[in-house]
Amino acid sequence: MDKQIYMDHAATTPVDPEVLEAMLPLFTNEYGNPSSIHRWGQRADYAITTAREEIAEVLRCEADEIIFTSCGSESDNLALRGIALEARELGKGNHLIVSAIEHPAILRTAQQLQNHHGFDITILPVDQHGLTSPRDLKTVIQPDTFLVSIMYANNEIGVVQPISDLAAITHEHNILFHSDAVQAAGQLPLDVETLGVDLMSVSAHKFYGPKGVGLLYAKRDTLTHSQQTGGSQENGLRAGTQNVPLIVGMATALKIVVARQQNDNSKMKTLRDRLIKAVLETISDSILTGHRTCRLPNNASFAFEGIDGNELIMHLDLLNVAASSGSACKTGNPEPSNVLTALALSPKLSLGSLRLSLGRDTNDSDIEYLQQVLPKVINNMRGTP
Ligand SMILES: Cc1ncc(COP(=O)(O)O)c(C=O)c1O
Repeated sequence: MDKQIYMDHAATTPVDPEVLEAMLPLFTNEYGNPSSIHRWGQRADYAITTAREEIAEVLRCEADEIIFTSCGSESDNLALRGIALEARELGKGNHLIVSAIEHPAILRTAQQLQNHHGFDITILPVDQHGLTSPRDLKTVIQPDTFLVSIMYANNEIGVVQPISDLAAITHEHNILFHSDAVQAAGQLPLDVETLGVDLMSVSAHKFYGPKGVGLLYAKRDTLTHSQQTGGSQENGLRAGTQNVPLIVGMATALKIVVARQQNDNSKMKTLRDRLIKAVLETISDSILTGHRTCRLPNNASFAFEGIDGNELIMHLDLLNVAASSGSACKTGNPEPSNVLTALALSPKLSLGSLRLSLGRDTNDSDIEYLQQVLPKVINNMRGTP
């Protein structure tokens, strides 16, 4: 079969041709530095000012509350380290809370703040579906908690958290709330007022924008400490000449994805549900990981008893299907990810994970092909007829 079936949109998405079109002149003729005073610089500055305003309209925030970064990981780092540094300096507290299923950009940053800088962290458990309970959050808040960081939607199991409820609790205690919205952006509403977030991370390559550009929304006066020092770009909060083409690409991609969101989501949900139903009905000893309904429209994630997830990905690759698994193979010793571990699955199940993430171009025949090949591959791997 010549057809390639890309079912790994949670890892990254292709760049929308319209986005590429918007970026191209900024790589060629319009190469000015936005900090320069001459006309080349003014045009570049105008391009990022416009991009900032367009993004602010989607996030329903002020343009100067957006800080452009190089990726979602940098946005997460800037949020946690920047707020921690300020809390330390102003004596605002020493304790931060993150959920157990955060991306490593949050978890490892929090762990470093603990191990090297003496902050206290609490890792908030989730239930068997990956949901964070607002009631549980209440119980771990301390008098010296200064920040809670809980992701909007999870990258492996697609579970969507009750962000506005969680944020409301932190605000009752005068604590800042950050959310990693890298997976949510493109599929879920990003209105920061309704969500109630003080800080929020986004990355363009998850919604048909370019790789290597992201943003941090930081409500006015919440973030005052930068992580990267140098020039006074981005209100002094992120030094370095802005990547004008990629920033314009991100704004263009966001506008397009928001305009298409309703249609794309409803199409992906229908296909996703068909895939989930078929897999659970035709493959024995299989489970859906993550919550059945509180999940991203494009995420179908499973665990199969007696299967090595990494081997499964390789078999699927040979059959022209790009997928991913939540277990990292560490020198021949596979270990389930922190996400699957947090769901308290048996080790045998959690090593057999599979994430199929749909995109706007996924179609009926892709799903039919998967319905055909996946049970066969699993049966072969299990040695069952
Ligand atoms: C939830 C989440 N946070 C952060 C990141 C990091 O984003 P980036 O690849 O732009 O650094 C990812 C990327 O997969 C993600 O899924």
